[in-house]
Amino acid sequence: MPLPHAKIESYRIFDAIAGRYDLINTVLSGGLHRLWRRAMRRTLPQRLNLTVLDLATGTGDVALELIKNPHVQKVRGLDLSKGMIAKGREKIAAAGLSDKITLDVGDAQKIPYSDASFDAVTISFGIRNVADVKLCLSEIYRVLKPGGRCLILEFGLPQSVLLRSAHLFYLRRILPGLGRMLSGHATAYSYLNQTIEEFPYGAAFSELLTNAGFTDAQYRPMSGGIVHLYRGDKP
Ligand SMILES: C[S@@+](CC[C@H](N)C(=O)[O-])C[C@H]1O[C@@H](n2cnc3c(N)ncnc32)[C@H](O)[C@@H]1O
Repeated sequence: MPLPHAKIESYRIFDAIAGRYDLINTVLSGGLHRLWRRAMRRTLPQRLNLTVLDLATGTGDVALELIKNPHVQKVRGLDLSKGMIAKGREKIAAAGLSDKITLDVGDAQKIPYSDASFDAVTISFGIRNVADVKLCLSEIYRVLKPGGRCLILEFGLPQSVLLRSAHLFYLRRILPGLGRMLSGHATAYSYLNQTIEEFPYGAAFSELLTNAGFTDAQYRPMSGGIVHLYRGDKP
């Protein structure tokens, strides 16, 4: 899938805004990001002793959410941005969870772990940022154990014409300025609307999961369709 060059080095922008990322996330999503992460936790496979990999883990909020599931034994987080990982490690240490959550610097397109080593792999608002989505999905498939589950949170657009227009207005006219103000970064949020509008969502993204070999690919629109939760299982 051809993707804009800007994506290849997007993690550098996250290095620059790591200190403010959590605050920006809360303001721009109106706090809804907590509900989206909780839905992801509730969709984990219903088995005991889960080992989970969270790709594009950023400041570790998904890892911190997933570990609340009593069946999750260990979470590994991976992200290309050293700044985001450093912030995440601080939060995990402050929560006293460094023995259960480990964060590493690395690429979701070249996952530095062995085949069939995780019961679930998650990626929240990260797949849109990787340069080669198909490669990332094939890497997720490789590191999942047979019977393991891939869970992806990503932005989409509402089906309802009214909601869609209102959301597009927010994305195009409000979010770039608000993002610039909160992050202090001239361009970090300038192209977010464009990447959301161009990225496949709903059935189109679900098809990518199926093409990557996942079975029972499903998606669930949330918050009117501005975000989708995808899942697919490795047979
Ligand atoms: C929008 S943030 C999402 C962070 C976190 N998952 C969340 O939900 O808050 C996107 C993250 O993807 C990371 N990223 C971008 N490309 C990546 C890649 N190829 N491999 C790993 N991480 C990547 C960025 O560094 C950034 O931390």
